[in-house]
Amino acid sequence: MPWNLSSTHAQPGDLAQLVGLRHKHYIFPLVPGGLMHTHRGVLNHDDLIGLAWGSQVFSHQGSPFFLLQPSLADILTELKRSTQIMYPKDIGFILTTLSIGPGQTVMEAGTGSGSMTVALAFAVGPQGRVVTYEKRPEFQQLAQKNLSRLGLEGRVAFKLRDIAEGFDETDADAFFLDVANPWDYIAQVRRALKPGGFFCNLVPTFNQVETLLYALRRTHFAFIEVCEIMLRYYKPEPTRLRPTDRMVAHTGFLTFARRIEPGEDARARELMEEQDVYENSQNETKETL
Ligand SMILES: C[S@@+](CC[C@H](N)C(=O)[O-])C[C@H]1O[C@@H](n2cnc3c(N)ncnc32)[C@H](O)[C@@H]1O
Repeated sequence: MPWNLSSTHAQPGDLAQLVGLRHKHYIFPLVPGGLMHTHRGVLNHDDLIGLAWGSQVFSHQGSPFFLLQPSLADILTELKRSTQIMYPKDIGFILTTLSIGPGQTVMEAGTGSGSMTVALAFAVGPQGRVVTYEKRPEFQQLAQKNLSRLGLEGRVAFKLRDIAEGFDETDADAFFLDVANPWDYIAQVRRALKPGGFFCNLVPTFNQVETLLYALRRTHFAFIEVCEIMLRYYKPEPTRLRPTDRMVAHTGFLTFARRIEPGEDARARELMEEQDVYENSQNETKETL
């Protein structure tokens, strides 16, 4: 397991992080006999293996570094990417709202560079399963590489397909849909989810959210919530605590929903109306709603 967060000391094969001056950092696997070239000199992997995590180490030029285990956030932020990726700011809230945990089966489309796939695979644990769909082979290959580097590929089924054709799976616990036109695939997603299953989407514009909302209501999803996560870092200086100069102002809007199974019983009408679920509305268009 290359990414071993439970150890106290660096072992051969572990994924390690060197953090130098001005937070410059490097993430790499420890290989006996290996060399790590930094902008401030070279370090021998053999000198790092066996040290306690958090130790201070020095390059051949005498430049100082800390030896750490990379966090999930560090790994996702540094991930090799060819697409827009999901960031820790949004991922953390998504995982808790979708209640992703050990042993679950979670689905995702599109895979993109695999940032969300890494987070999902981490969260479902060794007994869980992530099924992720992508239509572009070059993105799928990059995501597979990113997962393999962390030793998480065994928890993930990678499928190459345009999701307009639907999914092979049913009864997934949760579905994360990250494509630009999510409204086109809500019927397919509904079929893949278990009754009551959790849904989430991220899109960058209001217009996309609006169209998605119509599709969710038409397709018997309820408990719909739309939000965005704002995260502001502070300079951790006790005598002049203040926000950092720059921030990521916008990534996207998150839409959450649950698959529900509406019945014909008239006593449910008020609750259905409260949830804005449209009865027999599978064929209604945006214009008629
Ligand atoms: C924004 S990226 C996903 C990024 C990913 N969540 C991550 O964290 O790295 C969107 C991906 O969806 C894929 N995609 C778009 N439409 C698709 C479709 N109809 N079927 C399968 N994949 C699709 C794109 O090729 C792209 O890789």
